[in-house]
Amino acid sequence: MSNVGILGIGSYVPNKVFTNEDFEKILDTSDEWITEMTGIKERRYAEDMDTSDMAIKAAEAAIKDSGLDKSEIDMVIVATTTADRHFPTVSNMVQHALGLNHVASMDQAAACTGFIYSMVTGMQFIKAGTYKHVLVIGADKLTKITDFEDRSTAILFGDGAAAVVLGPVSEEYGIKSFELGSNGEGGKWLYEEEDTKYIKMNGREVFKFAVRIMGQSSVNVTEKAGLSSHDIDMFIPHQANIRIMESARKRMGISVEKMSKTVDIYGNTSAASIPLSMAYEYDNNKIKNGDNIVLVGFGGGLTWGSICLTWGNNKEDTN
Ligand code: UT7
Repeated sequence: MSNVGILGIGSYVPNKVFTNEDFEKILDTSDEWITEMTGIKERRYAEDMDTSDMAIKAAEAAIKDSGLDKSEIDMVIVATTTADRHFPTVSNMVQHALGLNHVASMDQAAACTGFIYSMVTGMQFIKAGTYKHVLVIGADKLTKITDFEDRSTAILFGDGAAAVVLGPVSEEYGIKSFELGSNGEGGKWLYEEEDTKYIKMNGREVFKFAVRIMGQSSVNVTEKAGLSSHDIDMFIPHQANIRIMESARKRMGISVEKMSKTVDIYGNTSAASIPLSMAYEYDNNKIKNGDNIVLVGFGGGLTWGSICLTWGNNKEDTN
């Protein structure tokens, strides 16, 4: 059979912008420190919207972009660790809100790596011939679990959602390789505290892990696809911290123009981060048919994952 690729993509970020200057008013911090240490200038806050509200908007946009009818979606997967509640899941809510047929829907949690895990999961259902079109959404409202009195974490996070429709594409396009991994030993460095529900993090340890794994996993997945770094047209790392992203980019040997950067305007949006950046580049006409793209993420768990894909689809060939 053919490969599995992206037939449509869409995103949603809430209107409320929270800048570093806003943080200067509530915490002992400065725009200078945040910019230098993280590359973040501002982030979006969902306020009265919940994770499902953002997921639904992103999903609508992705389905529209795919040109498919809603009735052609066979499954919904939502990557999130900030679901409105444990159940019904966000994916159940998306299925209902969009009036999709009574299709399978599930949430999948792998913290900031969630979207990569969910893309690979969706891909497997299509490859197996079980389903044809899978809607994969990354959505997180991290402000729900952010301690706004902790300056070392509060400044990092933002809210958002983005989605893709996966489906069969001809052989030159689509997902060429992937890598997934986890190491629960590092769970103590990044976790949700049981009592407060706040994110707790050992920034130094997470930073060291992220620098090592992001570079290594990107190189691995590129080699697995039979490509070299010269063949990569766009590098889309998890938007956690510009210094981590830069080190991965250098390890890959890719020029700065080829790295997607939205960390400055959205901060770290967890499972939404990678698709949000991909949608941003797509909306700005920075991605064209035939481009080789590497997606790479890391997150709580600890988890990591990467995908190498060739952008494009022959919708007319596969209908
Ligand atoms: O999806 C989650 C993924 N998590 C990440 O990507 C986080 C990875 N880690 C990091 O990005 C970095 O660890 C941070 C940017 C969060 C912090 O940088 P760091 O170099 O690891 O700093 P640190 O935590 O060791 O703190 C250095 C100093 C401390 O002050 P002292 O003890 O040296 O006086 C902190 O209290 O920086 C201080 N500090 C701040 N100062 C001003 C920590 N946060 C702030 C702040 N503003 N917001």
